[in-house]
Amino acid sequence: MACWHMSLNKMVFFFCVLFIILSVGVHLTPYFSSIYTFSSPNGASFNYRNSCIDFLHSIVYKKRPECVGCTKSWSWMQSRPVAKCEFKKLEKPDALVMLNRSWVVFAGDSQTRLGMLSLLKLVEVPERVRIAKKHLKKLHTDYSTYIDSIRMKLDFKWKPYVRRLPKLMLEFKKNEKYPDIIVMGAGLWDMLYENNVSDYDVSLRSLRNSLQDLDSKDGKVPHLFWFAMPTVINSKLTPGEKRDNLTEQRRIRYDNKVNGSKLLNKFGGPLLKLDIQYLSELCGPQCTKDGLHYDEVVYDIAVQIMLNAVLIEPTQKPPF
Ligand SMILES: *[C@@H]1O[C@H](CO)[C@@H](O)[C@H](O)[C@H]1NC(C)=O
Ligand SMILES: *[C@@H]1O[C@H](CO)[C@@H](O)[C@H](O)[C@H]1NC(C)=O
Ligand SMILES: *[C@@H]1O[C@H](CO)[C@@H](O)[C@H](O)[C@H]1NC(C)=O
Ligand SMILES: *[C@@H]1O[C@H](CO)[C@@H](O)[C@H](O)[C@H]1NC(C)=O
Repeated sequence: MACWHMSLNKMVFFFCVLFIILSVGVHLTPYFSSIYTFSSPNGASFNYRNSCIDFLHSIVYKKRPECVGCTKSWSWMQSRPVAKCEFKKLEKPDALVMLNRSWVVFAGDSQTRLGMLSLLKLVEVPERVRIAKKHLKKLHTDYSTYIDSIRMKLDFKWKPYVRRLPKLMLEFKKNEKYPDIIVMGAGLWDMLYENNVSDYDVSLRSLRNSLQDLDSKDGKVPHLFWFAMPTVINSKLTPGEKRDNLTEQRRIRYDNKVNGSKLLNKFGGPLLKLDIQYLSELCGPQCTKDGLHYDEVVYDIAVQIMLNAVLIEPTQKPPF
């Protein structure tokens, strides 16, 4: 059985127990049982969970100077407080168990789409990932796929402007059917084509309002994430509008609005930030060709952080 060749840490223990629970309780737990079994709130460990949320981004890239052009490898830091959280890079078998019968939605711009592709890579066979990548390349469109083996639905909603996100939330509410995980992120298009930071602010606040009462009849609240903008390497952008309008200074101004909108968990909001800016900056300029879209490893890490957050976090109830 799959559990045998895994190392004996706590999380694997949970996976093994879960595997058994699932095998036995098929009919009792029909939908996304994995994540909700994992995240049953436990008052005693609340502080422990809280501090681990803060350590989720404590990663290091490992340089392999002998190998030019290789993908960087990475791990969580080995320091004591981080190690205590027992974060785990989920391999495919783990991910399949965890995401069994789940519905995951990514909504946003091309950055968010790269996040979706990283998750797809974790649950799907390489050939289908290759086809999806080819299909989506430079295409401004929605994408939806169903992973038959685990009956998982994975959607990407092309919402390059933040102001298009609240409507999506309202659609979920109207249908009274919510994804188990929603990852949202947009800002670069707002910077590039709208060029009005107060408008961006207004859209963010409207998004926050749209997240009120986002829970289904059976009381489940989706796990919500914010896919932050990457570090902009201005000198690598194509000259012209892009280079004029996408600068680090401006990204910081826009990002500041995200902080101010109280969307993020850290500021009392419902979304946990996946800090692409930090992860991309840490990877460095050599991890991007066009100054905006980074190597897969950056988005792979974001997805691993997201999954680990889901494992340690009870469903994040919006505090309204
Ligand atoms: C997914 O869930 C179904 C039903 O609960 C179970 O039979 C199946 O083994 C699970 N698959 C994985 C990969 O965990
Ligand atoms: C880019 O920024 C400049 C200067 O802020 C602005 O005049 C221009 O309208 C922007 N371009 C677009 C497409 O918004
Ligand atoms: C920017 O947006 C604000 C609020 O949405 C609006 O009042 C203002 O007129 C806009 N500024 C420009 C230059 O369009
Ligand atoms: C937003 O908040 C985070 C976390 O407190 C902080 O690290 C970051 O610098 C803030 N961003 C801006 C643009 O102020």
